[in-house]
Amino acid sequence: MAGFPQLRLRRLRRTESLRALFRENRVRADNLIYPLFVVEGNGIKREIASMPDVYHFSPDQLSREVAEIASLGIPGVLLFGIPEHKDEVGSQAYHVEGVVQQAIRVIKQSVPELLVVTDVCLCEYTSHGHCGIVVDGDVDNDRTLALLAKTALSHVEAGADIVAPSDMMDGRVKAIRGVLDETGREHIPILAYAAKYASAFYGPFREAAESAPQFGDRRSYQMDPPNVREALREVEQDIAEGADIIMVKPALAYLDVIRQVRDTFNCPLAAYNVSGEYAMVKAAARQGWLDERQVVLETLTAMKRAGADIILTYHAKDVSRWLQDT
Ligand code: PBG
Repeated sequence: MAGFPQLRLRRLRRTESLRALFRENRVRADNLIYPLFVVEGNGIKREIASMPDVYHFSPDQLSREVAEIASLGIPGVLLFGIPEHKDEVGSQAYHVEGVVQQAIRVIKQSVPELLVVTDVCLCEYTSHGHCGIVVDGDVDNDRTLALLAKTALSHVEAGADIVAPSDMMDGRVKAIRGVLDETGREHIPILAYAAKYASAFYGPFREAAESAPQFGDRRSYQMDPPNVREALREVEQDIAEGADIIMVKPALAYLDVIRQVRDTFNCPLAAYNVSGEYAMVKAAARQGWLDERQVVLETLTAMKRAGADIILTYHAKDVSRWLQDT
């Protein structure tokens, strides 16, 4: 084995052409999904305080937005709905005229080729803010499953291309796969939030989605942050139940989990660069404390390097623009 001075690793780093040629991982616009928050009403495009440059849109304002997203080369969006009326059973989550169902129809009419992924969960729709039916102060797993399946089906009936359960109930992938298959939607993929941790990094999202739990927290269903073997069991279980794509969430503080999942399973893998990760970068950049563009590209590249195939990120539009001018 040659050593220094024959071996000089700096030789392949000397110019940008050399660096580009030997670059091992790259962020690409066509691996990104851009999350969108949809509210009821008309003529609304309102910036979310905790997430600069991210907006609440009413369905009628989506056509222009999705045309821009598609023109940037981003292949898909992830939809979150914020209903006007919440109740104990989240009935607006599976209503034909629910805000997400309306949004899906608008998007599919405007830009049919743009992939519409929907977040399937009840927390934005329940009065108590939990991700399922609450019985005796805790979320009842099995009673929640039917409602999640109903929600997923209603999204697909409205035109969704991929459904993404984010509730962390046991058995939800199986329940959703069952309903989709029974109704002739066996071609619709499921993106399972398989290893979703009970994380403080969702703070800004809960403000954006008005989905903070009204009592307690989500630790009886979302994963305990110190655990990684358990994440592999979650992923294994979701794949066994029929998940087509699995996700690790959050991303930045869980790159080791992404790597272990990548090394253990051959399933397509998504990373969710969540609201708190976004807000931290935006806040520091606005203070002039770090270079937003470089930090975002470095961070998303790290997610690719850890093994993610696709990244769901609020930075997607900016990243696509930056990649176009490099
Ligand atoms: C719904 C859901 C959440 C996020 C995605 N889907 C919030 C939560 O679980 O509390 C978080 C997304 C983000 O922080 O960007 N269950």
